[in-house]
Amino acid sequence: MKGVVLAGGSGSRLRPLTSVTNKHLLPVFDQPMIYYPIQTLVNAGITDIMIVTGGNSAGDFLKLLGNGKAFGLKHLNYTYQEGEGGIAAALSLVEHFAGSDPICVVLGDNIIQGNIRAAADAYREQGGGAKILLKSVPDPQRFGVPELDGKRVVQIEEKPPSPKSEYAVIGIYMYDARVFEIIRTLKPSGRGELEITDVNNAYIERGEMTWDKLEGWWSDAGTFESLLHASNLVAETGANHQELKHAAEAGANG
Ligand code: DAU
Repeated sequence: MKGVVLAGGSGSRLRPLTSVTNKHLLPVFDQPMIYYPIQTLVNAGITDIMIVTGGNSAGDFLKLLGNGKAFGLKHLNYTYQEGEGGIAAALSLVEHFAGSDPICVVLGDNIIQGNIRAAADAYREQGGGAKILLKSVPDPQRFGVPELDGKRVVQIEEKPPSPKSEYAVIGIYMYDARVFEIIRTLKPSGRGELEITDVNNAYIERGEMTWDKLEGWWSDAGTFESLLHASNLVAETGANHQELKHAAEAGANG
C-alpha cells in the first residue's frame, strides 16, 4: 500500500498564522505539523509516500523534509495543487503515483496518538473497496459524521447541524485504485469543493466500505482551538512522539 499526505488548501481558518506560510509547516508542540501524518504512515509500515502541497510556500516542504531521511525513508514524492479545490481534488493529483496500488490517505492536519497498523493490515486483507476510521467526539458537527446501523455505515454527512451519531470520520482513509474514477464523477459542494465525504458515500453505495474505531486520541489542527488542543495533547501524552524525537535528532534535510 502506498501513502499520501494531503497538505494543500489555504488554511484560511488559521489566518494570520497562514498568511505567509502553509498551515502544515506550523508547529504542533515541538514539531512541524506535517511530521505527524508522515510518521503515522511510516508507523503503519508504509514507506512509499507522496505529499500534495500548494500555495506560496510549497518549496519549504522540500527544504524541511528532503528525501525523508529523518523518517528512515530513502525517497519522498511531491506534487502541487493549484488553488484549493477540496480534499478529493487534491487526492486526484496522485493518480499517476498510485497506479493500480491501494492507498492510505492522511490529511496533513490530522494527528493521532496511536498506530493504524492493525487497520491497514485489515484493509489489505479486505482486498479492495475502502476503509474509514471513526472516533467518538464531543463536537461531531465539525466533521464528517456517519450514520450507523450496527456494523454497517448507512451514509456520511459532512458537518451536519444535527449529527446522526457521536462519531467523526477522521482524516485517514484507505482506498483501492477505483477512487480516481469516483473522483471524476464528483460535483463541487456548496462550499465549492470536491468533498472526500462524497467519495466515501460512493463506496458506501457500492457496499464496499468498512470502518474501524481508532484507539487513542485524535485531533485535527486546523482551527486555533484545535491547534492548541493538539499541541497540548502531544505535550502531555506524546503522539508518535518517540519516533518524531528521533526524526528531529537525525536532522530533516537529506
Ligand atoms: O479532520 C477530519 C475532517 O477533515 C473530516 O471529518 C471531514 O469529513 C473532512 O471534510 C475534513 O474536514 P475539514 O473541513 O476540517 O477539512 P479542511 O478543509 O480543513 O482540510 C483538511 C486537510 O485537507 C488540510 O489540512 C489539507 C488538505 N486539503 C484541503 C483542501 C480543502 C488539501 O490538500 N487541499 C484542499 O483543497
